[in-house]
Amino acid sequence: MSPERQMGKRKDCVCTELALLLQKLAWKIKKRLGETLPMEQIVLKQHELPYEVAEQLKTLRTNIRFCGDDKRVILITSCLSGEGKSTMSLELTRSLAELDKRVLLIDCDLRKSILQKHVIRGKFTEGLTHFLAGQCSADDAVYQTEEDGVYLMPAGAIPPNPSELLSSDRMARLIAMSRKSYDYVIADCAPLGMVVDAAVIAPFCDGVVLVIEAGNIPYGLAQEVAQKLKNTHCPILGAVLNKVDRESKKYYKYGKYYNKRYEEYYQGDH
Ligand SMILES: Nc1ncnc2c1ncn2[C@@H]1O[C@H](COP(=O)(O)OP(=O)(O)O)[C@@H](O)[C@H]1O
Ligand SMILES: [Mg+2]
Repeated sequence: MSPERQMGKRKDCVCTELALLLQKLAWKIKKRLGETLPMEQIVLKQHELPYEVAEQLKTLRTNIRFCGDDKRVILITSCLSGEGKSTMSLELTRSLAELDKRVLLIDCDLRKSILQKHVIRGKFTEGLTHFLAGQCSADDAVYQTEEDGVYLMPAGAIPPNPSELLSSDRMARLIAMSRKSYDYVIADCAPLGMVVDAAVIAPFCDGVVLVIEAGNIPYGLAQEVAQKLKNTHCPILGAVLNKVDRESKKYYKYGKYYNKRYEEYYQGDH
């Protein structure tokens, strides 16, 4: 081989090595930048809660806290859809964050995400399903909100196989990782009376709260769902009777008197 050709080959080798080195360096810089980049932010729709609902939420928050320090990953489910799980999950997240806690709300309702459709204002690209399918990291799928301490992982694109995705090792890893970064994790799940998803996630959680819409759920169905939860061995922390008609004496023995007193009491504060 002529000395010129030898020199040419060596030049090619040096160029290739240099290119590889540059590639590695670029990757390292990207990674470093990625680590220091602030989390993407979204805005959540606000709506003022009636005074008594806000008070009941505080009671729920207190009760959850009294269940013990080890109850930090809370699953919320119900028998049927529309009973108020997502509303309650979001408000409970906000309520816990008011105590200077970092709270992550994971939208685990991969079939009918109300949060994604009606609550999030602003763009988001990744969500739980992207993470579970290995398309992004957990950090990429978590969004900071403009509310202190409130973080949200949206459901993401609707998959054909929600239950399989939720039962994957990645879901267990997500919960384990979230325990390290957040004081509380609230998992808003699909109704257990309709699909199995909540029972699939329950073993990764510390406790479950069952939301029951007053006057709309047959006793037998509630019992059936409670039994399904018991079978997962995830402790049932309690049930929330939601959408109670305060005028009705059926559920609320103080009915309208209580309502009136509340208003008087509250107005007296101003
Ligand atoms: N305590 C409540 N009182 C009145 N309406 C409620 C209450 N909780 C929820 N809702 C309403 O009920 C509907 C269904 O609530 P949502 O949280 O989406 O239910 P789920 O997540 O169980 O399907 C929503 O329109 C919501 O505003
Ligand atoms: Mg919902």
